[in-house]
Amino acid sequence: MKISDWHDRFILQSFWTRDLRNFIFGKVGAQPGQSLLDVGVGTGALLNEYLGRGLHVTGLDIDLENCQFAHLHQAKPPIFNADAHRMPFQAHQFDLAVAHYVLLWVHNPSQVVAEMARVTKPGGYVVAFAEPDYHSRIDYPQIFQDIGKIQNRSLAFQGIDLSMGRKLGHIFRATGLKDVRLGLLAGQWRYPEKDDFDHEWDIIAFDLGGMVPIDEIIALRERALKSWLDGEATVFIPTFYAYGMV
Ligand SMILES: C[S@@+](CC[C@H](N)C(=O)[O-])C[C@H]1O[C@@H](n2cnc3c(N)ncnc32)[C@H](O)[C@@H]1O
Repeated sequence: MKISDWHDRFILQSFWTRDLRNFIFGKVGAQPGQSLLDVGVGTGALLNEYLGRGLHVTGLDIDLENCQFAHLHQAKPPIFNADAHRMPFQAHQFDLAVAHYVLLWVHNPSQVVAEMARVTKPGGYVVAFAEPDYHSRIDYPQIFQDIGKIQNRSLAFQGIDLSMGRKLGHIFRATGLKDVRLGLLAGQWRYPEKDDFDHEWDIIAFDLGGMVPIDEIIALRERALKSWLDGEATVFIPTFYAYGMV
């Protein structure tokens, strides 16, 4: 996939969690003028939103190409190409340290959350906006179960922790963050449209790509689309959030 396709994927994911971010920003009392560190900034899909809130954003990502893409943003926020396990920042530098779909990718999420806490000011907040638990996914009917199993195999092959979501509360509490709040992103669906299917399928097809031959993907797509448009499908991946005060 091209970097601009990844960016589109990240933008799509960011829509699913937009209401949740609004809710959490309210809970942690985020104010214009505060500093925010976006850990695992990716291509910068959330930069517009954070900057639009008047936050002073710094990004950090281990992937150089992502950093370069994020740096193209017109506001030119500082972007660090660094590892979240060992961040190049002094202690207590930021009001907020946030991550969105990141901890499931890292080698040692406890260390990353501890680093996020270290660089956050006392009284500031560490936030994980969205950490899925692919091992507890709900897929219905059978065609979506089949697809879900292949997608999980592919994600595990790409190196993600399929059980990250369920571990989030433990990790936040064990880090010593105060007043940790943990929750689950609720699901809400309108009548299934082809557009929604196409968006979901773009992501699924990428994940399936390395695992099954193209003709099988095309056949799976046809069956899945029919089931989707017949209104049969339910696909839900429980996605956790957590925030706690330093
Ligand atoms: C699924 S992407 C999410 C990107 C962005 N947060 C978003 O929601 O659009 C995960 C990001 O975490 C980054 N990442 C993975 N391991 C990392 C690490 N050890 N340190 C910093 N970034 C890391 C990846 O390079 C990738 O950009």
